[in-house]
This record gives sequence, structure tokens and C-alpha cells, in this order.
Amino acid sequence: MSLLLTNIAELVTNDGDGAGGQPSGPGGFASISDAALVIDGGRVAWTGPASRAPAADQMTDCGGRAVLPGFVDSHAHLVFAGERSAEFAARMAGTPYRAGGIATTVAATRAATDEQLRANLGALRREMLAQGITTFECKSGYGLTVADERRSVALAAEATPEVTFLGAHVVPPEYAADQGGYLDLVCGPMLAACAAQARWVDVFCERGAFGPDEARAVLTAGAAAGLVPRVHANQLGAGPGVRLAVELGAASADHCTYLTDDDVAALAGGGTVATLLPGVEFSTRNPYPDARRLLDAGATVALATDCNPGSCFTSSMSLVVALAVREMRMTTEEALWAATAGGARALRRDDIGHLRPGARADLVLLNGPSHVYLAYRPGVPLVAAVWQAGELAAGRPPA
Ligand code: NIG
Ligand code: FE
Repeated sequence: MSLLLTNIAELVTNDGDGAGGQPSGPGGFASISDAALVIDGGRVAWTGPASRAPAADQMTDCGGRAVLPGFVDSHAHLVFAGERSAEFAARMAGTPYRAGGIATTVAATRAATDEQLRANLGALRREMLAQGITTFECKSGYGLTVADERRSVALAAEATPEVTFLGAHVVPPEYAADQGGYLDLVCGPMLAACAAQARWVDVFCERGAFGPDEARAVLTAGAAAGLVPRVHANQLGAGPGVRLAVELGAASADHCTYLTDDDVAALAGGGTVATLLPGVEFSTRNPYPDARRLLDAGATVALATDCNPGSCFTSSMSLVVALAVREMRMTTEEALWAATAGGARALRRDDIGHLRPGARADLVLLNGPSHVYLAYRPGVPLVAAVWQAGELAAGRPPA
């Protein structure tokens, strides 16, 4: 059963050639005005001007609204229990963000039943979908025992194929006096228990979490077990994380808040995507990453939510796009691209993040005539309907 979406004021395809300053082409930002799109068999079958649209079994009139690729959230921590609103309030009153807060969520997560964790993850997943996120990555990292990490990756795998093993999130309290012992556990039995259900391995490479040698050990062990590295890097201060990520061929270096010129050059010259998470800076009152510097140097930039109960409890990619445009000097085209095609590159996926014929039909219908509205109307729920693999998954198209 084919479906024609027509009367689309702006159809963002991300099918550009990268010329004219467009983000990272080929596959750079591109859009079609007065457009139509045909979905068939869960895939995009045709895009072009509405005046030339082919016939289809069904038709939806989009009423002059914009259609975008579904958002690709390449960084989220959704397997957890409890909340840390008091920590957020204290931060807003002047207490700085510290990695140590993670232990609060670790205790709550260990105490939770599988059903409680599954319900929390399911609620967040629905919340994301309703806001246009059609693919998300999900990390473990709040269990930090072999059994708790194993169940975290298993629960994540029920919800998404993009599962990341993050046993090296922080050293849990019971290993406070034996960091080496914890590292051995992560690289040995914990990795062995988690690798089959994960695609990625991650480490929080930061003062107060794991140093460069430890991070290298975790990522190397993960790679030997068949996982592809990604790294929490340079979030709270300058450090070796970004360069390590590039050296090891990580899919992405995430946060990138404090970068030296060498870090920027490494990202621009390597194959590692710089994933920026401005919701974190919003929620921790830290300085925003310098997206302009990265883009001007030629790095590939993705935007993601980092949804987690500590540093950033938002599931709104619209907020992230608005922050990137307003606070990080990204153009609206660059920000939209980074939240869709950029996320897909960070997950090494070529079937999502764009709407070329053949793409998975993951689409967002906006209550507005262009993608600019995401930043122009901040805080307004603009997502009218969401299709996932061609099926209406949230909201309602116009009658
Ligand atoms: O990406 N930086 C490390 N991990 C998360 C924070 C987790 C937490 O505070 O609970 C992050 O910001
Ligand atoms: Fe994170």
C-alpha cells in the first residue's frame, strides 16, 4: 500500500551535494519547496515537486507544512531508575556539575526491578517518538555490576538496535579503593556478558572518571569483542578523550565542550563525528561547545539529546536544535542536518537521517512551513505527526 504525502511547503531531503557551504556533503542539507513524497513498503519511493507527483494508493494533504527526516538521537542514557531534580536545583543555585552524581542513579537502578526499568525506558521512548526521534542510541552505565550491566544492555536491546556498553561510566563505590580491579572487571567478565547484545562500546574519559590509559584499555577490549568505540570526551575540561577517539577510529567523540586547536584539527582530519550535546550545557550552566569552530574547520557535527537523569533530562531534539542555533552559531540548516544526517553518521547508518528514495520512511510532519520553525518557535510542540518505517507512529496527519 503506497502513500502520497503532498502539499509539503518544505521537504528536507538531506540529499545535497555539499556545495555552497552546506553541511558535510555529499548528503548535505537540501530541501524541495512545494513538494511531495511517496512511501512504499516502509521506504521512501519518490520525492519531487508536488506538481509531478505520481499516483499512489492513499494520499495525505500536508496543508503547507514542512516534512523532515526523523531525528536521529545518537546519544542517550535511558536505562535507569530514580531522578535527580534536587541536584539540578542545587546546580542552578551555584553547585557545579560533578560526575559523582552518577552514583545516585546507580544505586536507584540496582534497586529497581526489570519491570520498573523497562517501564521507564518505554515511557522515555514514547516521549522521544512523539517529539520526532525515530532512531535512538541507548547506553548502559547505571548498573556497573556484571549482572546489572547485562540486564541494562538486554533492556536497551528490546528498544533499539543501537545499544552501547558503558560499564566504564564511573568507578562504582564498592571499587573506590580499587580502580584497577574495576577496570579488569569491565574489560573482562562485564564486557563478555554484554558484548553479544551491544553494537558500541563507550567510556567516560574525564578527570574523576577514567584516564587515557584506562579509556584505551576499555575501547581496545571492546573492539576486540566486536564493538565499535564511541567516547564521552572533553565534557568537563580539556583532556585526551577526543584525540584518543580519533586515534582509535571511534564513530563519535561526544560532548567536545573543551577543545584545543589540536583536538579540532584531529576531528576535522579524522573519521570521527563530533557529537554536541547542548542540553547538557543548558542543564549544567557550563559553556556551550564551539560548533562554529568545528564546522569551519571541516569537522562533521552531530547533535543529540544525551537524555539522562543527571546532566540533562530532556528528550527534546527541538530544544537541542534551538540551542545549537541560538547559542552555538549553527545555521538552521546545519542544526537540522546535524540532528538527522549527522546523528546517522555518528551511528554509521546510511538508511536514516535523509529522505532520498530508498531511505527508511522515518518522517516528521511539522506544524510550521519550514525547519526554521524549530528554532524560531522555541519551546512550542511543533511535531504534528511521525512516521516510522512508513507507519504512522505518533500524532495525527491533517484530516
Ligand atoms: O553524558 N558524562 C557522563 N555521563 C552522562 C551524565 C550522567 C549523569 O550525570 O547521570 C553525560 O553527561
Ligand atoms: Fe552521555
